[in-house]
Amino acid sequence: MKGVTVINHPLVQHNLTRLRDGRTAPQEFRRVLAEVATLMIYEATGSFTLKTVRVKTPLETTTGSQLRHEVILVPVLRAGLGMLEAILQLIPHARVGFIGLKREETTLQATSYHKSLPKNLKPFEVVLIDPMLATGGSAVAALNLLRQHRAERIRMVNLVSAPEGIRTVRKSYPNLPIFTAAIDRQLNARGYILPGLGDAGDRLFGV
Ligand code: PRP
Ligand code: URA
Repeated sequence: MKGVTVINHPLVQHNLTRLRDGRTAPQEFRRVLAEVATLMIYEATGSFTLKTVRVKTPLETTTGSQLRHEVILVPVLRAGLGMLEAILQLIPHARVGFIGLKREETTLQATSYHKSLPKNLKPFEVVLIDPMLATGGSAVAALNLLRQHRAERIRMVNLVSAPEGIRTVRKSYPNLPIFTAAIDRQLNARGYILPGLGDAGDRLFGV
């Protein structure tokens, strides 16, 4: 699918299988999700733009590179929190915004209950983080919020995606880069991804 990068790195796929395994308890699930987030963010940030800067080594002045734009990570609560800390280890200077969304169980509509974002996201590279892209309702709601805050450079990292969710996001955001470890088969009648890994928030936090 156009603009969707499936990260097939063996360590990502190995860890994804452990996360899919229903026997993996929250403590282990948190640890493995953090590991996989580290690997995924390496790939997802590969097209960040650089600017050339001068740098003085102890011996002489030379040219080097710096990220052109400030980075802001935006995990979608709750499950996005499971990827945040590990990503911050790799990008410690990143700022962090939060979007709280809850999908209603019967309608599958995402309702926003929290938002903590700078007014102006225009100067930033924005990385939207959510392990699950199911119907795509939460992703579109989060992306709309980011656009309301004037974000121009957005990429999204989802561990597991459903084809339905990708199609929904594509209707509103045809050029958004999406990085995922898997495009699964389909959604079930309750909006869960098949084969998926279950409810990511519940798997992470045990409730
Ligand atoms: C999950 C997941 C996504 C959303 C995906 O969150 O973390 O945010 O569902 O579903 P969608 O693509 O159909 O919108 P949930 O609403 O269950 O909240 P939680 O993380 O607090 O459990
Ligand atoms: N949210 C999840 O956490 N898992 C799914 O399969 C779908 C939505």
